[in-house]
Amino acid sequence: MSNRTLAILKPDCVKKNLIGQVVSKINEAGFKILAVKMVKLNKDSASGFYEVHKERPFFGELVDFMTSGPCVPIVLQKDNAVAEFRKLIGATNPANAEPGTIRKLYADSMGENIVHGSDSDENAAIEIAHFFSRKELLELNGF
Ligand code: RTP
Ligand code: MG
Repeated sequence: MSNRTLAILKPDCVKKNLIGQVVSKINEAGFKILAVKMVKLNKDSASGFYEVHKERPFFGELVDFMTSGPCVPIVLQKDNAVAEFRKLIGATNPANAEPGTIRKLYADSMGENIVHGSDSDENAAIEIAHFFSRKELLELNGF
């Protein structure tokens, strides 16, 4: 079981000035931040990141939203990171998210749900590599 996951603070989180509050929740839950940056995705990059959803009816909206402004990818470390982070963010639809979860606290809708979390160790490794070069990870964290 890997101890890393990729979070993205989505464009709604950045626009609503919630970066600080969400990062506080992440730290309070015991995650260590290994790497962070702010980027504006283009269509190719956002489509590639969410490629598994490319046949889904919401794909166009998802890509439009993820390219609507800057977002903040973060590499997080904790034991059982993928499952622990998905527990912290709550259900995809904030209406169904548990009280106290990041999506329940801050998200407006299923489409604009504040934060992404990897859904498996395998995808976490792929997603971390989508945003961070090996060199960046080595320089920042002594991997
Ligand atoms: P994420 O990948 O962003 O962490 O979200 P997730 O695992 O909770 O949900 P996923 O099924 O991977 O869907 C990715 C994003 O697509 C949007 N979505 N819209 N309208 C819909 O039925 C629908 N379903 C998914 C959401 O913004 C979701 O976060
Ligand atoms: Mg997902």
